[in-house]
Amino acid sequence: MPFSSEKNASGQKPIIQPRFTLAYGYPVHFTAGVFGPGNSLLSEILLPPGSEVVPRILLLLDGTLDTALPELKDRMARYFHRLNLDLAGDPMVLPGGEQCKNDLSVLHSIYDAVADRGIDRHSYIIVVGGGALIDVAGFAAATAHRGIRLIRIPTTVLAQNDASVGVKNGLNFAGRKNFIGSFAPPNAVINDLELLETLEERDRRAGLAEAIKVALIRDQQFFEWMEANAEALNRFVLGGAPGPEVQYVIYRCAELHLKQISNGGDPFETGSARPLDFGHWSAHFLEEISQHSIRHGEAVCMGMVLDSLYSQSVGLLSGDQRDRILGLVQKLDFPIASDLWKKLDVKSALESFREHLGGELCITLLKAVGKGVEVHEIDNAMMQKLAESLTSGIPV
Ligand SMILES: NC(=O)c1ccc[n+]([C@@H]2O[C@H](COP(=O)([O-])OP(=O)(O)OC[C@H]3O[C@@H](n4cnc5c(N)ncnc54)[C@H](O)[C@@H]3O)[C@@H](O)[C@H]2O)c1
Ligand SMILES: [Zn+2]
Repeated sequence: MPFSSEKNASGQKPIIQPRFTLAYGYPVHFTAGVFGPGNSLLSEILLPPGSEVVPRILLLLDGTLDTALPELKDRMARYFHRLNLDLAGDPMVLPGGEQCKNDLSVLHSIYDAVADRGIDRHSYIIVVGGGALIDVAGFAAATAHRGIRLIRIPTTVLAQNDASVGVKNGLNFAGRKNFIGSFAPPNAVINDLELLETLEERDRRAGLAEAIKVALIRDQQFFEWMEANAEALNRFVLGGAPGPEVQYVIYRCAELHLKQISNGGDPFETGSARPLDFGHWSAHFLEEISQHSIRHGEAVCMGMVLDSLYSQSVGLLSGDQRDRILGLVQKLDFPIASDLWKKLDVKSALESFREHLGGELCITLLKAVGKGVEVHEIDNAMMQKLAESLTSGIPV
């Protein structure tokens, strides 16, 4: 059959236009003691009814958690042994924290383990750790063999309520946050409240920033609930056991986050809007210029304070509402005063954020507690002045 790329008799050039859709979905479970003897949740995910093959498992463990809870490795080994699950060697203990996103050798070591331990596309990578390690493991799982099944078991507040419930992963490159990454939904997420017990104070607090964020843009009642329960949340921050208030704050934050991903119309972020990124344009810049000495959640709280001040200054938000936001941030004792504010270059931070997202500049501000609003222009001079005013902390 002769083939011509010229127009055919009806005036059309040949074209093949495939089109298909995929439905995505995954469970986010809430439990306590996931590796305990009586807890069958993980095995039910790995071996659903009717499954004939026992999948091979590569287990990745956050090094800081391993140090803080040395018996966890044995507990996990006993769990997998008891259920005859096919664990491919000892858990890989990897550095936790932003370091594992900065150093590509961590990613390479996961690829090596996938190759050396016979992990295939029907195997599972299970990652137990903070948001940073979960980001690296997510990228490794999305790219090795073009995709290995992934179960995330997040172990910080921020990872449980935000970083590991969504569809993204990321690594840092050339000093730029999340420069490398992909959109790849996990197979399941398991939030285990008990795994939060070993967290340091700053990581207990940092995770609450994402809950305040999502309440501010979406849910006034949730914000009011946090105001009313600030004392209980503070008890946890200062070392108390994670109780029902912490469980609720994680659950509600994750739920609002997932509502945006599943109902917001743009789960893989092809447009320019990023409603969940309130406070994040400056947060990412502050994290970078601090060389990651501040946590993501700490930076997000700083960024939210700045954008709340700005929202009030441009007449979007009332002074009373701004003061309530600042009041909650102060009640939870978030560190806001910092010399980093002097180094925040508003113009380049906004441009870097725009470039990362693509398209036009789109910044979420507030018109009320619980109501985010997107703007496409920022008064850089006013923003710069407000940022510098925060050097000595929230104005009294
Ligand atoms: N992919 C996404 O959609 C998404 C969303 C938000 C944030 N993030 C990323 O998540 C990261 C922040 O996550 P994070 O706040 O969990 O910080 P993190 O992963 O850096 O963890 C903070 C510290 O706690 C340690 N740790 C983890 N679990 C512990 C435990 N149970 N006990 C004691 N120490 C423990 C870690 O090793 C680290 O030192 C950032 O890199 C951020 O960019 C990703
Ligand atoms: Zn965030």
